[in-house]
Amino acid sequence: MAQIVPSILSADFARLAEQIRRVEQGGAGMLHLDVMDGHFVPNITIGPPVVECIRKATRLRLDVHLMISDPDRYIAAFIEAGADQISVHQEACLHLDRTLRLIRSQGLPAGVVLNPATPVAVLEDVLEIVDFVLIMSVNPGFGGQQFIPGALRKIRALDRRRREWNLPFRLEIDGGVNKENLAEVVRAGCDWIVMGASIFHSPDPAATVAEMREIAREATAVRV
Ligand code: DX5
Ligand code: ZN
Repeated sequence: MAQIVPSILSADFARLAEQIRRVEQGGAGMLHLDVMDGHFVPNITIGPPVVECIRKATRLRLDVHLMISDPDRYIAAFIEAGADQISVHQEACLHLDRTLRLIRSQGLPAGVVLNPATPVAVLEDVLEIVDFVLIMSVNPGFGGQQFIPGALRKIRALDRRRREWNLPFRLEIDGGVNKENLAEVVRAGCDWIVMGASIFHSPDPAATVAEMREIAREATAVRV
């Protein structure tokens, strides 16, 4: 079944532990952490020390999305801090194959991320060594943006490809997912659906996660 993955980018950072508990109560199994460096993307968020604190505050899996230039330099620090899986942008990696192998060599699932303007075709030669592909459905940098529908075409193409080639990689989508477009996103073939503002800007994040999980469950059933 498709999983809802809350992104803390839209949470209240002064009450982070409490906010994380709320999404745990709603049934989330994984938390999405957005790392931005003010260079690869026009915003700055958190680094390894904050990931380390979050690691101590929850048992949820930590899905670390690196929106940073030269990610190779920081991968070890994020693993040390407690990341359970790490994704890097194709656009930020000069030697993508090497970076993905570096993550996997440390025993973690490795993901590759594509910006909205980057075609799926660039992944042709790494699909066999990735554990997941994250398709951005907004331009990275900020929460609460509008969903770019072209992302669905990419998800469908990758879903087809993994069936044809019998590859096990998972599909993740990130940006602008809300109650209205969630079912369509699930039916397109997503396994992990990141949601930030829709969850943390709602009056009751626990109830919202539960509601989104139910929508995802129904849409998964339709798909199969
Ligand atoms: C955007 C981040 C997203 C963000 C999504 O650059 O990568 O993870 O938190 O947030 P929403 O769901 O609000 O678009
Ligand atoms: Zn993200």
